Amino acid sequence: MDRLKGKVALISGGARGQGAAETRLFVNEGARVVVADVLDAEARQLAEEVNKKAGTKAALPVHLDVTRAGDWRAAVDACEREFGGLDILVNNAGILNVKGVSDTNEEEWDAIINVNQKGVWLGTKFAAPAMKKRGGGSIINISSIYGLIGSGGSAAYHASKGAVRLLTKTAAVEYAPDNIRVNSVHPGVIKTPMVDIFAEKNLKDRALAPMKRAARPEEVGYVVLFLATDEASFVTGAEYVVDGGYTAV
Ligand SMILES: NC(=O)c1ccc[n+]([C@@H]2O[C@H](COP(=O)([O-])OP(=O)(O)OC[C@H]3O[C@@H](n4cnc5c(N)ncnc54)[C@H](O)[C@@H]3O)[C@@H](O)[C@H]2O)c1
Repeated sequence: MDRLKGKVALISGGARGQGAAETRLFVNEGARVVVADVLDAEARQLAEEVNKKAGTKAALPVHLDVTRAGDWRAAVDACEREFGGLDILVNNAGILNVKGVSDTNEEEWDAIINVNQKGVWLGTKFAAPAMKKRGGGSIINISSIYGLIGSGGSAAYHASKGAVRLLTKTAAVEYAPDNIRVNSVHPGVIKTPMVDIFAEKNLKDRALAPMKRAARPEEVGYVVLFLATDEASFVTGAEYVVDGGYTAV
């Protein structure tokens, strides 16, 4: 309890899946969380659930399309106006397309790159000045094991998640003097709506890591939580693989 007491977090794509798990974990640890998503109804519902359980206004739903600078400006403003500042950003919003290089068209390529890559850059750019005002902060970028290894498909997704890995490292160097830590997390196969497109058997095959199962969203969330806390005060520019051993083989 209270590992994030007094901290304010913004979680992009916070309305469902891993982002929702992190919202619940963060509030349990004393943070106030802006749940920022294009899914307005889901964000509102999650905030209501969390606030009811906490008995206070600990979560605030905000409309955010991560590809739009104006939305980011408004979301960071909401953190400052409603909760007094911003200490933690989880760049979690993401979309998946499994097509390979040859099958991907320009529109599909741009859509993935805009959300998964440009969205992380914009979030970092707009959150950093707010964090500087608080004397520092923590930015956690959700990449993927597909940002580390190839698969033969998901071409734009791999390209976007690989870019997030290195954007993380250069941002860590840029913002170290401001006491803002920037790290990337690389989940393996996690049971969320994103992987609903795969049948259960296909999901099992994809999760054929040494641990032979897909993970619960909280199993990534606890790693993200650690990086968000001051317990990780000397951790920056690092990549945390959460994949049941998938990339170890
Ligand atoms: N599920 C997996 O197996 C897996 C594996 C590795 C990495 N990831 C990454 O984890 C992150 C979270 O995904 P998830 O598994 O919870 O999937 P999810 O589809 O349940 O959640 C993604 C969230 O991002 C939001 N989002 C999409 N486009 C957006 C936009 N333009 N602006 C704001 N929000 C937007 C969605 O509305 C949704 O709430 C993603 O970055 C994903 O690429 C997932």
